[in-house]
Amino acid sequence: KGGKDQLVIDAGQKHFGTTMCKSCGMIYTASNPEDEIQHLQHHHRFLEGIKFVGWKRERVVAEFWDGKIVLVLPRDPSYAIKKVEDVQELVDLELGFQQTVPVCPDKTKTFLFIDEKRVVGCLIAEPIKQAFRVLSEPSATKECSRAWRCSDVPEPAICGISRIWVFRLKRRKRIARRLVDTVRNCFMFGCFLSTNEIAFSDPTPDGKLFATKYCNT
Ligand code: ACO
Repeated sequence: KGGKDQLVIDAGQKHFGTTMCKSCGMIYTASNPEDEIQHLQHHHRFLEGIKFVGWKRERVVAEFWDGKIVLVLPRDPSYAIKKVEDVQELVDLELGFQQTVPVCPDKTKTFLFIDEKRVVGCLIAEPIKQAFRVLSEPSATKECSRAWRCSDVPEPAICGISRIWVFRLKRRKRIARRLVDTVRNCFMFGCFLSTNEIAFSDPTPDGKLFATKYCNT
């Protein structure tokens, strides 16, 4: 230990090296006691956080062969709000987001993608008035930094996506795409928002790759 490299002794353990837990998706070093403890702690908290037992009154806004999307609004019953808070906490932990207070908490709309008995996707949207377009980066800096350059010219927008997250083991199954399609359909009654009217706030590298593909920009 000490330097950048962490050495692990191969003493014939059952699991060796980097492993991904097949239930919670955490990547850790089995055989490293500290990592194993961290995994156990994360495992229970995470699976409890994404557990979805079903609600008496669910606002189902889209249904698919592999799941459904439930919309939660600020004045919904406390069990629904609590689930949204728990999921957001897990998402923020994974994204490394600091505690952020939404600009208009009473106008926030949360979309949960439910597969069987788990929340496997979450999108938090809020009304905005303007957004700043991300400028394309020179190829050398692409994808490795999170400090995107933005235009300083505001453009009108309607819906800000403050969080979009899909459970690690469920990625690349078009869950994020379906969440955004549903937001565009449900955010403003009676109209389908164009991709110019939605904006992703402070995207991560994954978020930027997804948004670029989704919006064809
Ligand atoms: N790398 C390259 N292209 C990608 C990636 C990626 N990591 N993710 C999505 N895309 C592109 C692909 O073209 C994909 O289509 P394909 O699979 O047919 O090639 C297309 O976007 C649609 O992808 P989905 O399957 O709908 O995306 P997914 O359900 O996997 O969710 C997400 C994408 C939400 C970014 C997921 O990777 C994730 O949760 N990452 C960790 C959390 C995160 O970084 N969220 C964004 C934060 S920014 C914000 O919240 C505003």
